[in-house]
Amino acid sequence: MTWKRAASTKDFEKKSGKEVNLDGNRIAIFRTNGKFYAIEALCRHQDGSLAPGKIDGEVVECPLHSWHYNIRTGDLLDYLEGVKLKTYKIDLKGKDIFIDV
Ligand code: FES
Repeated sequence: MTWKRAASTKDFEKKSGKEVNLDGNRIAIFRTNGKFYAIEALCRHQDGSLAPGKIDGEVVECPLHSWHYNIRTGDLLDYLEGVKLKTYKIDLKGKDIFIDV
């Protein structure tokens, strides 16, 4: 368990995403419904970055070909069964967002 500072809460609009690279791990952080989530950044279809994807509640849509993932569980919600992105624990300390990588 290694907690790393990943971003500031000030970097996020109310509903937005941002990609960070921590120790070579590309991670997408999302803010939605007043909470923060962190998942593996790359879509399993063709490695599109999910961070700029459209967010609807706990669902993000890949900007390239519209696959949908639950950003709390990492589950792919359409097309294939059993596909799951890695999720990361988040800790907020003031305005700093820490991720357990
Ligand atoms: S790369 Fe994400 S849907 Fe194709």
